[in-house]
Amino acid sequence: MTTPRLPGYEVAPWELRWRWLDLDALRRTESTFALSNGHIGFRGSFEEGEPRGLPGTYLNGFYERRPLPYAEAGYGYPEDGQTVVNVTDGKIIRLLVEDEPVDMRYGSAPHHERVLDFRSGTLRRNTEWVSPTGRRVRITSERLVSFTQRAIAAIHYEVEPLDGQAQLVVQSELLANEPIDGDVDDPRVAAVLKGALVSDFAVGEGSRAVLGHHTRRSGLRMAAAMDHEVDAPAEVSTENWTEGDLARLTLAAEVPQGRKLALTKYVAYGWSSQRSPQALRAQVEAALAGARQSGWQGLLDEQRAYLDDFWEAADVEVDGDAELQQAVRFALFHVLQAGARGETRAIPAKGLTGPGYDGHAFWDTESFVLPLLTYTLPDAARNALQWRHSTLDKARTRAAQLGQSGAAFPWRSIDGDECSGYWPAGTAAFHINADVADATARYLAATGDGDFEASAGLELLVETARLWTSLGHHDAHGRFRIDGVTGPDEYTAVVDNNVYTNLMAQRNLHEAASHCELHPELASALGVDEEETARWRDAADRVVVPYDEALDVHPQSEGFTKHAHWDFANTPPEGYPLLLHYPYFDLYRKQVVKQADLVLAMWLRGDAFTPEEKARNVAYYEALTVRDSSLSSSVQAVLTAEVGHLELAYDYFAEAALADLHDIYQNVRQGLHIAALAGAWIAAVAGFGGMRDHGGELSFAPRLPPELSRISFRLCFAGSRICVTIHRDEATYALSHGEPVRTSHHGRPILLTQGQPITMPVPRPPENPLPRQPAGRAPTRRRLQPTPGG
Ligand code: BGC
Repeated sequence: MTTPRLPGYEVAPWELRWRWLDLDALRRTESTFALSNGHIGFRGSFEEGEPRGLPGTYLNGFYERRPLPYAEAGYGYPEDGQTVVNVTDGKIIRLLVEDEPVDMRYGSAPHHERVLDFRSGTLRRNTEWVSPTGRRVRITSERLVSFTQRAIAAIHYEVEPLDGQAQLVVQSELLANEPIDGDVDDPRVAAVLKGALVSDFAVGEGSRAVLGHHTRRSGLRMAAAMDHEVDAPAEVSTENWTEGDLARLTLAAEVPQGRKLALTKYVAYGWSSQRSPQALRAQVEAALAGARQSGWQGLLDEQRAYLDDFWEAADVEVDGDAELQQAVRFALFHVLQAGARGETRAIPAKGLTGPGYDGHAFWDTESFVLPLLTYTLPDAARNALQWRHSTLDKARTRAAQLGQSGAAFPWRSIDGDECSGYWPAGTAAFHINADVADATARYLAATGDGDFEASAGLELLVETARLWTSLGHHDAHGRFRIDGVTGPDEYTAVVDNNVYTNLMAQRNLHEAASHCELHPELASALGVDEEETARWRDAADRVVVPYDEALDVHPQSEGFTKHAHWDFANTPPEGYPLLLHYPYFDLYRKQVVKQADLVLAMWLRGDAFTPEEKARNVAYYEALTVRDSSLSSSVQAVLTAEVGHLELAYDYFAEAALADLHDIYQNVRQGLHIAALAGAWIAAVAGFGGMRDHGGELSFAPRLPPELSRISFRLCFAGSRICVTIHRDEATYALSHGEPVRTSHHGRPILLTQGQPITMPVPRPPENPLPRQPAGRAPTRRRLQPTPGG
């Protein structure tokens, strides 16, 4: 390549733009430029197929099973793993200019840029390419994965010869079983995924083709279809070749200089564990007919209208740091893409942006993504909880296998079966059940969705509450203990009375009891009687919350503060993440924290701590937390802001928001960190907005860091819309739509009504000594980046 190289994303409020070709950055940008609607995921690879980093096309819930081998067998170990499959690629449009394949590794590109537009919901590309023999063409493309037509993706592609008439040959493909190098690190997984799709049928006619496939072990079937509209200034010859794993429509035309060959490609996907190949074929053909009826412009218009509504409900404005403004919108856009149309499926930790974590969903969904969706796109939050509910039978079976009552949801999974092969940081992380219950209770309180409560919500609360009463026990003093579990911090495992787990279980038990008392008939249909709710309340009231009187802090779990301290001073930077360089046995017996755990308890159960306890605990755990997980910085932002360390909170906010744009964890090629991206919203809204929702009561305690001059965010609450605007000295609350909302500002009750914004002064932050982090593990000090032209 002879093009100048200026790598990096340009800073702009509503888009992510990358100019010039940087082959080394391809894998990263394929993740950041990924498009998805929560059902279909397209990584941001080039239309021409090559050069490529890690091309990927995913369908939410479409996976292959693989054996989970163990060196030593053990009772209750899951035997089957699940891995997301790279399905039939519908993005490919190859191009030949006067016989030469367009491949950006050859020739030169005087101009090349890609733009992910957060308002149009499209990925645009504009490339001027000069072939090795000197022929010049301009290629522009725009693609979308439709939010409104869930089964549809579409690409509008144009080629224009720039130096005289040229013969252009365009090959638009559906390609299954695309070989990919280095997709997965584990060779056993790679072996299962190689040629994962078995052809059922391949049909093509005219401008249309359909491929049907199934997986060997999981028994899932899928179909992908494409259709095209062509607009050319000259006659176009067309050929359709379809067989097995490949469908190809070839178009050839002589195109004069200054004129364009334009192609619109519609792609439809469908999959099922039940439906026949014929039914799937009919389904994708019907989806294509719908898309063609809307047309390219129609799809664009629907996409924009959908996003206009989303931004109206969810936008977060940040003044004073242009790069963070962009990062926050990038984060919101990708969280939306992960959750918008998943419907009866999970929201995976990477969304549908890459093969990382095998495509599994974790507690990340309920504890990080759902707080955001509950207050911005409540229907998507309900759908995600609906997915959990649809897996209840599997969770009950798992609980029974573990000798417990109620439901035990999997630590990681695609279809609801436990897939974690390492039980200390898997099955033992029982807190996921309280996280599901917390997300359920939050959703019910924020929406008052009685239908969901009756059809799914109450049952989720009840079955998780039942798990806690069987998992815990009353000791000789009548206190309720939950022993032998792992909290969020995976550097401490299988412990007694993890404060986070116990406090979240307490909330779970109380919420289940309260909702059953409100709906005795529904409760009785679930077999709940007064005696059972009394048992839940009793366990909740007597739950053990350990406290270290000598240090005056909460130990993360019993005995934690007695452990030796990790030797941070002698841990080199390349020793992180610690789990890859030190044995778990040593991590487990030392005071070192992978990610917010007790600090997370102080956010989600902030009602269980005094301000003084919070300040002391923050200081203590800041000094031990290494943030080897991307789920930590947002939570640290929330608590450091609450106890008055606003600049430190700003650093953590930036770390969460920029996790993927700066590739902080050096693995963005495997997909985005959706929980960290949701964490950008959490840091802004719960951190600087001080928003809390304990027991369904909405409250705010806003304060800005000195670097920012304004943050403004919107929330949906009980069918009403609220906008909170924070300046350094005052905050304004406005209700734009709906019934009045009761809330509070730094503890002072306020009633929001339409047309009557309320402005309140922002009090000075509490003064606490600045905490220290482990050597070398402080967050990057956020220095303001110059804005373009600024
Ligand atoms: C974290 C977990 C998280 C998982 C998936 C791990 O590194 O420790 O808390 O659920 O990543 O994001």
